[in-house]
Amino acid sequence: MITAIYPGSFDPITNGHLDILKRASRIFDKVVVTVMENPRKKPMFSLEERLEMLKVTTAGIANVEVDCYRGLLINYVKEKQARVIIKGLRAITDFEVEFQMALINRKLDQDIETMFMMTSGQHSYLSSSIVKEVASYGGNVESLVPPCVYKKIVRMYKEGTL
Ligand code: PNS
Repeated sequence: MITAIYPGSFDPITNGHLDILKRASRIFDKVVVTVMENPRKKPMFSLEERLEMLKVTTAGIANVEVDCYRGLLINYVKEKQARVIIKGLRAITDFEVEFQMALINRKLDQDIETMFMMTSGQHSYLSSSIVKEVASYGGNVESLVPPCVYKKIVRMYKEGTL
């Protein structure tokens, strides 16, 4: 039984994340998608809101679990008795930061492996940040995010809280 952890900010989850998650779920017995804090980013959505959007979005995928964690990723992976971290990779710009994270995580625990999955072509330009930017100016992001995220974003835009 191989469990993989798919960690990220998911602020919010996009169709690009969902694509990686679905593909990973076809390879591993179980995938735990975990909302975490990235000290380098200031999130727009609370951990609880991000978790809720993930729960709704992944409800139909049998071997996917949703969780959240405040702390060191490696400690979490060990707690879950997993040995694989899944990360999605888009362009060269992702590589440098992902390379550093993978190496520091390996330094912290050599038994835990980070595995990268290449984005699907149609999502290669997509990021949570670009979705938030477009949405904050009233642009249509319906085709970029899961339906529950789109509904939340539209509601927040109308309330002036986005
Ligand atoms: O979606 P992101 O923002 O690229 O995800 C990055 C994340 C949250 C996985 C990373 O910042 C992280 O692992 N945070 C937990 C703190 C930690 O373990 N830091 C050391 C390893 S980089």
